[in-house]
Amino acid sequence: MDINNRFTAPPIAEHPRITVIGTGYLGATHAICMAVLGFEVLGVDVDQKKIDTLLAGNVPFFEPGLQEQLIVALQSGRLNFTTSFDEAAEFGDVHFICVGTPQAPNSPAADMTYVNAAFEELARRITRKVLLVGKSTVPIGTAARLTELVQSVSPMGTELELAWNPEFLREGFAVEDTLHPDRLVFGTASPWAQRQIEAAFKPIIDDGTPVILSDLPTAELVKVAANSFLATKISYINAMAEVCEATGADVNILATALSHDSRIGGRFLKPGLGFGGGCLPKDIRAFAHRAEELGVGQAVAFLREVDDINNRRRVRTVDLIRELAGGSLEGVKVAALGAAFKPNSDDIRDAPALDVARMLYLEGAIVTVYDPEANANAHRAYPDLNFADSAGGALLGADVVALLTEWEEFRTADPSMMGFLVAHKRVVDGRHALDADKYRAAGWEYRALGRPSDPRTIALLQDDRDSVGTLSA
Ligand code: UDX
Repeated sequence: MDINNRFTAPPIAEHPRITVIGTGYLGATHAICMAVLGFEVLGVDVDQKKIDTLLAGNVPFFEPGLQEQLIVALQSGRLNFTTSFDEAAEFGDVHFICVGTPQAPNSPAADMTYVNAAFEELARRITRKVLLVGKSTVPIGTAARLTELVQSVSPMGTELELAWNPEFLREGFAVEDTLHPDRLVFGTASPWAQRQIEAAFKPIIDDGTPVILSDLPTAELVKVAANSFLATKISYINAMAEVCEATGADVNILATALSHDSRIGGRFLKPGLGFGGGCLPKDIRAFAHRAEELGVGQAVAFLREVDDINNRRRVRTVDLIRELAGGSLEGVKVAALGAAFKPNSDDIRDAPALDVARMLYLEGAIVTVYDPEANANAHRAYPDLNFADSAGGALLGADVVALLTEWEEFRTADPSMMGFLVAHKRVVDGRHALDADKYRAAGWEYRALGRPSDPRTIALLQDDRDSVGTLSA
């Protein structure tokens, strides 16, 4: 230990100025929330349109509660946005890199182009001791590789340090999950980096949030391990649904019985059409791919099964709709309720709902989609589908109704009133979100994955933390 260390240790910025590179889902939320917490924040993006939208006080995607926080942050004078990396490098003491790592084209691996570019662009302009913090979900080993990269291009050389701080926010709960996370994970390579990142999260730490300190690879791994676990839990109950279908058992009763065991718990144990979105599907694929590169592919080979179970739920939903329609989908009018990958989001990335709509269309069905927020995104991606601008519009004259995303509007719709609009009262509940007894009482044929053809209503256990109504931010 160098006895002079205490004289030479670089100073900590106790109230650091923060930059957030990438103003997509993760970055915009992080920038806005950090400003709300009292930090001076500069959001950076290469997309001038996004920056203009944010500066005008508008969030470029749908997220409950975020717009209000953006206005608060802008009015405080602590939040600004720019496209200039020069400004960012000049401004920040702690730089958060929040750009996307989508699935690479024609490969299960993550596309690292944006992450590499962001770190490099920033690092070559850094001329003082600051901390670069990666938040994007990346293959294990990325932080070590990026450390070499940034040190090779920055005038600071080996003085420039990097930390990893994985982000666990869920769409629809982004503000709550950012301001009141279950835990904070800080992967660092030096005591200075640890103290500097702690200073950047002081208000959240002071709030009693558990902090896990780790090395860089563990911090990277936490994120993919968490998402893999969640995906596995969902596919586990959906695998049980397959067994139920072969035996006449009821997966909703099964899930309820399992969830009362506190070791198992009911969260992420909801059977149905399965998981989608911009994270879970691509993260498990990239993780399996990276594990193979590292020579430990066998350890997570089950993730391919998790993916397969998940994809089979989409096919099985189409089967149920076909069965209910009498054996063929040719010319059958289907009302597809929902397009987003989950409610309270306009995100259609890898959305199970749209995948089902696409497969129905390819089999000759006349599909009319309605989603309260995702219609525009869905229309851009699938221009051949029909879109209605209300649930009523989608239901009009339908032979089969398919509930594909469990928006509150659909959960609480009155089956008697819906019955007046459709041609045939047949519903496939792809999300186990409807009241089976009520639908049957109103004359509907009700079918759900993993349930017998005459199931009774079973309300799956709800957790307040999964309910948008409880947002406290
Ligand atoms: C996920 C992780 O939850 C979050 O921690 C991480 O930071 C990003 O990825 P998100 O993609 O917003 O968040 O969605 P999430 O709420 O996890 O839902 C993912 C998918 O699983 C949705 O399509 C949802 O409908 C489905 N799901 C979820 C189920 O099918 N059953 C469940 O019990 C729970």
